[in-house]
Amino acid sequence: MDEHYLDHAATTPLHSEVLEAMLPYFELNFGNPSSLHAYGRRARQAITEARDQIAEHLNCSPKQLIFTSGGTESDNLAILGSMDALKSRGKTHIITTQIEHQAVLSVCRHLELVGFEVTYLPVDAYGRVSINDLKAAFRPTTALVSVMYGNNEVGTIQPIEEIGVICRENGILLHVDAVQALGIIPMNLSAMTVDLISFSAHKINGPKGCGLLYCYKEYLLDAQMYGGNQERKRRPGTENVANIVGFAKAVQLASSYQAEKRQHVASLRLLFEKLLSVEVGNESFCVNGHPDDHLPHILNVSFPGIDKATLLMKLDLMGIAASGGSACTSGALEDSHVLVAMGLPYEIMKSSVRFSFGYETTNEIVVDVTKKIGTIVKRLRKTN
Ligand SMILES: Cc1ncc(COP(=O)(O)O)c(C=O)c1O
Repeated sequence: MDEHYLDHAATTPLHSEVLEAMLPYFELNFGNPSSLHAYGRRARQAITEARDQIAEHLNCSPKQLIFTSGGTESDNLAILGSMDALKSRGKTHIITTQIEHQAVLSVCRHLELVGFEVTYLPVDAYGRVSINDLKAAFRPTTALVSVMYGNNEVGTIQPIEEIGVICRENGILLHVDAVQALGIIPMNLSAMTVDLISFSAHKINGPKGCGLLYCYKEYLLDAQMYGGNQERKRRPGTENVANIVGFAKAVQLASSYQAEKRQHVASLRLLFEKLLSVEVGNESFCVNGHPDDHLPHILNVSFPGIDKATLLMKLDLMGIAASGGSACTSGALEDSHVLVAMGLPYEIMKSSVRFSFGYETTNEIVVDVTKKIGTIVKRLRKTN
């Protein structure tokens, strides 16, 4: 049986050139970058080169980049670190949105427990925040706004540039979780009015457990861990040299085929939608998220009347990997907080499945998968 992986928003396969770049740092060049001898110097040099390469691709200074263990840690460090740095100035209020990744929402909930105040902005039916709502939420105590670039469940893109300008005018920091946007949307960090940006390597065919936090100015952030001087004292601990080298290679590859990939995944998404209407009928499914402003590799579809867990299980039996959100402790799929915030009807929410595409997804895969979805949906509709 052929297996088809359509869950690239969850993670992507490691690119063979990334693996090749990483291998020497597990073997010959295994030194600790803090050691003064030749082994250590080689490892240190590798990190310096990786940081320089990434900074060049993202158009920022290498000093503005902090390597972390992934998108989750970058989000944590951005929010906890900046709130720590600003609280002595009486800045204790954060604005975020109801559709952020848990790496942001859980940090905000934690901060509420220890005395900070958080406003969770609503979104419209497409998953977009309103600029008026944002402005109305500003308080004299607002320190930080945290808004994601593109949503990981429905792909909706937020008006980051506009938000950035408004935040800067009001002396408020802006953190952007750009984990899903990297490798798809060109990132020219020096031209963006953003103070903190989170990235993750494994969404762009890089290694898992490696992330990056861009920090516009050093004084905006206090370290959240102690024990070493690494990453200019902002993120202590012996660096994961192989992962960092792999991340730099993944960024380099992603930059080289970014425009091509964007076009490729956008055409796969279109084809998927077109074939779905042939296989299941236009009236039998709907697409969730913004119709125009969306990340092109994410397609969130609902099949009203069909239970998503049943559909995903049947797809899995046919070798197709897609996503229905996260499982709760009982093993059942939780309702998506993103779709709830979008105010979608129960039937749409309970039947939503995310398909996400990568550079190795082909038209043939889309043809095969949509055919199989057609078969399953027709069968399930008959038995319902
Ligand atoms: C938008 C977003 N933010 C943060 C993360 C967390 O990144 P990581 O898996 O590298 O911790 C993810 C991962 O799915 C994501 O999609």
